Amino acid sequence: MKGIILAGGSGTRLYPLTKTVSKQMLPIYDKPMIYYPLSVLLLAGIKDILIISTPRDIHYYEELLGDGSRIGVALSYSIQQEPKGIADAFIVGKQFIGQDNVALILGDNIFYGHALEDILLKAVKENTGATVFGYTVADPTQYGVVAFNKDGQVTSLEEKPIKPQSNVAVTGLYLYDHQAVDMAEHDIKPSTRNELEITDINKCYLAVNQLNVILLNSSIKWLDSGTYDGLLEAGKFVATTQKEEQNIIACIEEIAYNKGYISQEALGKIAHSMGNTDYGLYLKKVSERLS
Ligand code: TTP
Repeated sequence: MKGIILAGGSGTRLYPLTKTVSKQMLPIYDKPMIYYPLSVLLLAGIKDILIISTPRDIHYYEELLGDGSRIGVALSYSIQQEPKGIADAFIVGKQFIGQDNVALILGDNIFYGHALEDILLKAVKENTGATVFGYTVADPTQYGVVAFNKDGQVTSLEEKPIKPQSNVAVTGLYLYDHQAVDMAEHDIKPSTRNELEITDINKCYLAVNQLNVILLNSSIKWLDSGTYDGLLEAGKFVATTQKEEQNIIACIEEIAYNKGYISQEALGKIAHSMGNTDYGLYLKKVSERLS
């Protein structure tokens, strides 16, 4: 399965923060926001990843992450000329996806929990059609909302409903077979806000009974960092959790090492290049601990 991180958009809800800086480049405590979705794809075992951003910002991501060889994966980059919607990722990424399955993750979504890796690996392995991840939230009106009958079958899927049928939001991580490209190109039309909606792709899969929903329980933390409060909450969560657990969340080099993508020596070199920062010292400890 290939992976796409969508790191463009307008970021208007964070103005003036994002007037001249790309949202997914903003810090979540000790690292840029994009590290978090990237770490999720890495945990899912995905090694071929396309990063999509705006003409203005794409080169910053290339400068930050390079071709991925440093962490033993392949990173490539494409431009979305205008923010035409989340489902536009399949049109921009058409060549990259080819005939493969694809995982799409939004660049401002943060997932964390010890069970996450197993959930992701299983979902990727078992995916047929589409798989989305539901999360119970207090106010679902700003999200895609999925409702179920008593047998657990999906009964409705609505984008930003005024009167939601459930409290289960569809999070910003989606697994699809290659049909998604065709659907984005031919089966859906821009919405009233002139975007190709990911909810419309999910509805296409629901119509043919190929939409699977995995409910994430409270052992997983999901945060959308695209608002002032979301951004602050994410930073506080990461700072507190890292101190409590004595680890680093979304540490892409550690994940790459644990997955066997890079050697102990390579990890040691990366640690050294980061000097005496907490991040560098942590990587040094990881490389020594596991030797
Ligand atoms: P949103 O948060 O829905 O949109 P946005 O980032 O443009 O922000 P705002 O609503 O404040 O104006 O987007 C979710 C994620 O998807 C975010 O990481 C940006 C990305 N995105 C794109 O890359 N291209 C797009 O066309 C859209 C709509 C979003």
